[in-house]
Amino acid sequence: MSEKLRLPAEESYAAELKALATGDQHCPPGWALAPRQVVTYLMGGKANDGTPITPKYVGDKRLIETAVATLATDRALLLLGVPGTAKSWVSEHLAAAITGDSTLVIQCTAGTDENQIRYGWNYAQLLAHGPSREALVPTPLMRAMESGKLCRFEELTRMGSDVQDTLITVLSEKMMPIPELNTAVYAQRGFNIIATANNRDKGVNELSSALKRRFNVVVLPLPDSTEEEVAIIVKRVGEMAQTLDLPAPKNVADEVARVVSIFRELRSGSTEDGKVALKSPSGGLSTAEAIAVMIGGISQATFFNDGKLTPETLASNMIGAVVKDPVQDTAVLGEYLETVLKKRRGFEGYYASLTDLI
Ligand SMILES: Nc1ncnc2c1ncn2[C@@H]1O[C@H](COP(=O)(O)OP(=O)(O)O)[C@@H](O)[C@H]1O
Ligand SMILES: [Mg+2]
Repeated sequence: MSEKLRLPAEESYAAELKALATGDQHCPPGWALAPRQVVTYLMGGKANDGTPITPKYVGDKRLIETAVATLATDRALLLLGVPGTAKSWVSEHLAAAITGDSTLVIQCTAGTDENQIRYGWNYAQLLAHGPSREALVPTPLMRAMESGKLCRFEELTRMGSDVQDTLITVLSEKMMPIPELNTAVYAQRGFNIIATANNRDKGVNELSSALKRRFNVVVLPLPDSTEEEVAIIVKRVGEMAQTLDLPAPKNVADEVARVVSIFRELRSGSTEDGKVALKSPSGGLSTAEAIAVMIGGISQATFFNDGKLTPETLASNMIGAVVKDPVQDTAVLGEYLETVLKKRRGFEGYYASLTDLI
C-alpha cells in the first residue's frame, strides 16, 4: 500500500481508467477516453472488456452527461451547488478521466491575484537575465494550456471579479498573451476549464456576464431521497475508513440512516412526515458533513470505545456539524430534540446524548 495519505484519482483508479481506454473509441481531440466511457467512469458500470467500474458520483446520470458534453465543446464547465454536493469530487474525477491528470488546480481565494492565474516571475532569474521564458513561472492554467489538459478552478467566485475576468481572453481566444516577452501561449487541443462555485456562502463575487457566457452551468443538487443519501454516505464512509485503516463497525449503515434522517429534517425545516415545521440551523448539513460525522464517530469508537459505534460517540461530532452559530443553532437543536426526537422510537440514545451535550 502506498504511504501517501491521498493519491490523485488517476492513480487510485488507474486500473479502471486503463480498462475503459480499451476498444474502439471515438474520442474528442486531446481526450484519453470517449465521452461515453467518461460517464461510465463517473457513474459506474462495466468497461468493454468486462472490468467492473465503481460508481464515483451517485445521482442523475444526465447531469454528468451534460458536464462531459460541455467539456467537449469550446465552453468551460461550472459546477454549482451548496457545499458538500460533490462539486470538487466530480471535477477531480472528470479531469482524471478526460486528460489523465487531475492535479492542475487553482484554489481561488479573496487574495488570489492575476499572477496566480496567468504566470509569475522568478525574480532571481529576472534580475540576472531579464525577462525570458526561463524566468517565467507557469501557473497550473498555463501548464494546462500548453499540454492540452483540464485546469480546475476551485471556488471560482471567491476571487475578485477583476481577477476572474482574466479568464475571458483565455476562454474566448484560447490563448494567453505574455506582453513582457512579446509572445503568447496558445492552448493545445484538449484544454478546457472546470470551475466549481458554491451558491450559499456569503462573500462571493458574482461572475461578470461576459465570463458567465463562457461557462455552461451544471447544478449539483442535494440527494433527492433519504435512501440515496444513505447509500452515498455508507459507500464513502466504507472507502474512507479503509484508507484511514479504521475497522468499520457492523452497525454503520443503521447509524448512518439515523444521522441522515436527523440531518435531513433539520435541513429541510420539517419532519419527514411533513407534520411538524422546524427551524433550520445556519450551517449546510450536507452529505459531506454527514460523512465527516460518521468518520469522526468511527475514529472515536475505535480508539476510545472498544470499536463500538454508539449514539454517544456520534453525538459530539453531530453537535459540531449542526451548531455553527453557538447561540442560534443551539436553540434550534434544543427545540428539535424536545419536539421531535424525544418521542421517536429508536432514537432514545441520540436524544439522551445530544441533550447532554447542548
Ligand atoms: N452525490 C454524491 N455522490 C458521491 N459522493 C458524494 C455525493 N455527494 C457528496 N459526496 C461526497 O461528499 C464529499 C464532499 O464532496 P466535495 O466534492 O468536497 O463537496 P463540494 O466541493 O461540493 O463542497 C466527497 O467525499 C463526496 O464523495
Ligand atoms: Mg469543493
